[in-house]
Amino acid sequence: MRAVDIIAAKRDGKELSQDEIAFLIGGYVAGEIPDYQVSAWAMAVFFRGMSPAETAALTTVMLKSGAVMDLVGIPGPLVDKHSTGGVGDKTSLILAPLVAGLGIRDPMMSGRALGHTGGTLDKLEAIPGYRTNLSSAEFREILARDGFAMTGQTKETVPADRLLYALRDVTGTVESIPLITASILSKKAAEGAGALVLDVKYGSGAFMKESVDGEKLARSLVNTGTAMGMRITALLTDMNEPLGNMVGNFLEVEECFDCLEGKGPADLMEVTLELAARMAVLGGKAADAVEGRRLCEAALASGKPRELFLANIKSQGGNPEQFLEMRGKYRSPYRAEIKAAEEGFISRIDAWQIGHAGVGLGVGRNRTTDPVSPTAGLQFHRKGGDAVKKNEPVMTVWAKDEASLAAALPQLAAAVEYSKTPPVKRTLILKEITS
Ligand code: URA
Repeated sequence: MRAVDIIAAKRDGKELSQDEIAFLIGGYVAGEIPDYQVSAWAMAVFFRGMSPAETAALTTVMLKSGAVMDLVGIPGPLVDKHSTGGVGDKTSLILAPLVAGLGIRDPMMSGRALGHTGGTLDKLEAIPGYRTNLSSAEFREILARDGFAMTGQTKETVPADRLLYALRDVTGTVESIPLITASILSKKAAEGAGALVLDVKYGSGAFMKESVDGEKLARSLVNTGTAMGMRITALLTDMNEPLGNMVGNFLEVEECFDCLEGKGPADLMEVTLELAARMAVLGGKAADAVEGRRLCEAALASGKPRELFLANIKSQGGNPEQFLEMRGKYRSPYRAEIKAAEEGFISRIDAWQIGHAGVGLGVGRNRTTDPVSPTAGLQFHRKGGDAVKKNEPVMTVWAKDEASLAAALPQLAAAVEYSKTPPVKRTLILKEITS
């Protein structure tokens, strides 16, 4: 077999066999097939797509490139959630302790900020001392005790995705449905949860800009996951505006804790509770999503998820008392306000522009090796649908330094869109996609 023939076959729209895919990906991971050939293949996949059988084969080959987390013996049910990525998208940090409060265990293996989207690990590491590089023994122990554990991908888990994702990121091949499907599901299958709720985002701040493409991605994920033996359901949710009122690393952790104390913003709570309700169903705790949501609301009201969140901070190396003390104060000194440029209504705050400006502020990174700032970010005082008077504060901004603050302000101001009449209310959750 030769890599060039596999690339040419995909270029010409032919279906690749599992053996051909295994040859290419296996050779890449072994260092025998160079970046430039895999880049050419990824671009061919981007334009030609993959059949369901090819997507499943790619996912399986990627999964087999590394180790699978051993969760045998951890009392279940084990259910995880994954988002395809967005701005202010912090539901994982609320969901994990919330469903743990129902007796579900969530083994969460998360990623870092890349491009304009935030990363769960960067947010958690904004808590001083919090470790996201758990050994598998620590992961198992914390998962069994706290009901959830949060860790990063290790060197051993899905090395094919680590290599391929970094290559796609610099070759314009991230936004491919089969490549995203294989990337997400290989990692989720390696994590060993078996049951998965997906938050598939569409809109300006998501990889899929249109809802039809978001739906195609959701169907690809659900169908491929089901074919691999996972129990899986997906919600298609709007990412045209950032979720919640905070964007930033410590800021988002703080907002999640507000949610666990019953003080979360309505949009964030809505998406979180609907995802949690599906996790309750997959975990066998509820007959349907309506009952699941009721159970989740009752768990929140009991205060148990809040206590589990604080217990997890301690288990992963942080100090819960210090965290509580830092709330509302742990902010960069480089601060400014964006004021309303017009009178009337905010029709939308554009998620893409906020995400991109956020990278400049220090919330995210352009390259995997760039550091992020724990204290940079944004707080919205108004969002889409709110009435506003000229010069009223729309957002407070914190940057990693003076120069980044000055550079980001024009883009942040441009992210705010106005209308003279109340805008049409956005539908946050468009539909559920099941097998
Ligand atoms: N998230 C992933 O893990 N992989 C992708 O390809 C896109 C989003």
